[in-house]
Amino acid sequence: MLSEKISKMLNDQVNLEFYSSNMYLQISAWCSSKGLEGGSHFFYKHSKEELDHMYKLFNYINDSGNIAIIGKIEEPPKSFSDFYSMIEKVYKHEQHVTKQITTLIDYCLSNKDYTTFNFLQWYVSEQHEEEKLIKGILDKSLMVQKEHIGIYMIDKYLSKISRDTTSS
Ligand SMILES: [Fe+2]
Ligand SMILES: [Fe+2]
Repeated sequence: MLSEKISKMLNDQVNLEFYSSNMYLQISAWCSSKGLEGGSHFFYKHSKEELDHMYKLFNYINDSGNIAIIGKIEEPPKSFSDFYSMIEKVYKHEQHVTKQITTLIDYCLSNKDYTTFNFLQWYVSEQHEEEKLIKGILDKSLMVQKEHIGIYMIDKYLSKISRDTTSS
């Protein structure tokens, strides 16, 4: 059984993963509306991964003898001034998620909930991978930002990496 506070923190994380999924699904639609098929495919796939993160937490809460609570999920942003500012928002969002996981882990450790601490290690590695992935896109976007052909190149890159990697 989880403490009330840890259960609440995990439920908040369920909501944040839901939000991430919705945010990326909305970005997928935005990319599609701009004719960016690679970006649309990449974020559609990423949206599903965020749902997997949510289910993992949802099951953990229930399996621990507590009840997972689905709260109100905020609306994600619907449009962006350009591709670069969209990717920048995504990167900032992933950094925020990492911060939330760190806060959760710190709390578990100081309150001796080693089971949840152990469970959350998966999220530590996952956030490391996600920040690396998005930072890579951000860096490339910055490099080609002022070039006319830049967005086309970035879109090709996203199309390639989202087809090469097996879903996780
Ligand atoms: Fe996630
Ligand atoms: Fe994420």
